[in-house]
Amino acid sequence: MQVNGNAMQSIWYDGSVDAVQIIDQTLLPHELKIVALLSLEDACHAISHMQVRGAPLIGVTAAYGVYLAMRNNAEPLSEVLAQLLATRPTAVNLRWALERCRNTLDALPIEQRSPAALRLAQEIEQEDVAICAAIGEHGAGVLRTLWQEKQGSQDRLNVLTHCNAGALATVDWGTALSVIYKAAGDVPLHVWVDETRPRNQGASLTCWELAQHGIDHTLIVDNAGGHLMQNQRVDVCVVGSDRTTANGDVCNKIGTYLKALAAQASDIPFYVALPVSSIDFELASGGDIPIEERSAREITHIQGVDDTGITRSVRLTGEQTTVCNPGFDVTPAKLVTGLITEAGVIAANAPAIASLKP
Ligand code: MRU
Repeated sequence: MQVNGNAMQSIWYDGSVDAVQIIDQTLLPHELKIVALLSLEDACHAISHMQVRGAPLIGVTAAYGVYLAMRNNAEPLSEVLAQLLATRPTAVNLRWALERCRNTLDALPIEQRSPAALRLAQEIEQEDVAICAAIGEHGAGVLRTLWQEKQGSQDRLNVLTHCNAGALATVDWGTALSVIYKAAGDVPLHVWVDETRPRNQGASLTCWELAQHGIDHTLIVDNAGGHLMQNQRVDVCVVGSDRTTANGDVCNKIGTYLKALAAQASDIPFYVALPVSSIDFELASGGDIPIEERSAREITHIQGVDDTGITRSVRLTGEQTTVCNPGFDVTPAKLVTGLITEAGVIAANAPAIASLKP
């Protein structure tokens, strides 16, 4: 990803200080702060407090968390894995990465675990970069085809995205935003960015990322998408996924489902970009996915920077207001036009998904 004109990843290992470095995403877009993770507790805190977030990045951070635990002689391995697994429930990449760690480390004598855990975390990190680049290439083909159909009648292709499925949600490139980055060279693109209440990942992260890459974009409130689709101002939706089940149901940030319904009503293609590591081959359908319930404060309060540059959190609601804050929802497979994966674009159905099973 480009940050102030320089290439940067969302996470990396710095051998000179033996630390895992992350961008603290809770401070963006107002401050670019790099934070060093030095222990299992640091890694768990970074995931649960959303300094890092996004399904693939959660998985990579967890793998590095296992390394930090092994380096600091934390024992037993099963408890280390359980502690990391408990940080966030919905994104399946967390479980996927931890299972890889278990498979590699369980059989090794304790003194060999630390270097092996580091090698594995770095391998998962670099795999993620290649996977996200491949997702982008496949998805760019979809946008080019759409643009060929539209270019006689309009001057740009309008893509709507929800939450942040960009480089900040992965190690680099992203999933949905990788599609945009890879197509941007030959398709004139404009991106509608849903603000994505309550945590506003669209407003604070996706807008920041797209601006860093010079991609034309406009921020909209979450409720505007349906209106824009109804009025032919959206040509295609591309979103990410935290967990996709064996039948093609897609679990993503809360509000994704409503966008898919609006897209279907307006006959607009709705694509989901995801790595195979976000597929839960064991779950038959989306109804069984654990949906994260987040704190009431995310809804009752809003955080931002005031005109003097000071970060403030202010209350939006009365003291007595009760809230319900599910972090994700499930979009049924029938509303999904296609799944854009590193292996190509496939249908959101059981046979196509089974063909990707490792
Ligand atoms: O709660 P978050 O910010 O971790 O949610 C992130 C999303 O919903 C993303 O769309 C999803 O993880 C896909 S990331 C490539």
